Amino acid sequence: MCEVRRAARLAIALVCATTTHAFSGPPVTLTRSRSAVRMAMERTYIMIKPDGVQRGLVGEIIKRFEQRGYKLGALKLYQANEDLLRKHYGDLQEKPFFPGLLKYMTSGPVTCMVWEGENVVRMGRQMLGETNPQASAPGTIRGDFSIVVGRNICHGSDSVASAEKEIKLWFDDNEVLAWKDHSHAWVYE
Ligand SMILES: Nc1ncnc2c1ncn2[C@@H]1O[C@H](COP(=O)(O)OP(=O)(O)OP(=O)(O)O)[C@@H](O)[C@H]1O
Ligand SMILES: [Mg+2]
Repeated sequence: MCEVRRAARLAIALVCATTTHAFSGPPVTLTRSRSAVRMAMERTYIMIKPDGVQRGLVGEIIKRFEQRGYKLGALKLYQANEDLLRKHYGDLQEKPFFPGLLKYMTSGPVTCMVWEGENVVRMGRQMLGETNPQASAPGTIRGDFSIVVGRNICHGSDSVASAEKEIKLWFDDNEVLAWKDHSHAWVYE
């Protein structure tokens, strides 16, 4: 019994030592304010490019966003034209690969989506992987399903501002729906 008490005292001492010496700055309160930690609810524009559609990856990509807990706001299969793509990729017009990019992106239908949720712009880009599939980690969409930059399967907005611009560009207002997601309370605290 005495041994047990000594072991318990030692364990408590160890816990105290760890908690008092782990932080060297001013005392911090460990009770995190949820509102301070929580990120803003955002929307992002995710698009499955013609290669992703042709290769039958639409379901797989939708599945990944659904399973993560994000909420679908809009979805359509769409044949884009050059005008629309010049607006969408306006910042790349001077790049040598731009004519090839236009040809690729108009070569067949794309799947246009709006996904909503906490920090979804950055998380969406993380789920897609790097622009160059060979720099993309396994487990990301580009890292799992593609090899070269000119056939990299999917697009994701790179900021909240560009997401809002892209959603307006690809969808009419009445195509983006606000609906109550029954699993919200099971995804967020
Ligand atoms: N060097 C390149 N050669 C061929 N295509 C390229 C090259 N660089 C970019 N692209 C194409 O142009 C797209 C847009 O490039 P960007 O720099 O915006 O990368 P990204 O933001 O990762 O991609 P996206 O905007 O499609 O999500 C790339 O996803 C790719 O399809
Ligand atoms: Mg981009």
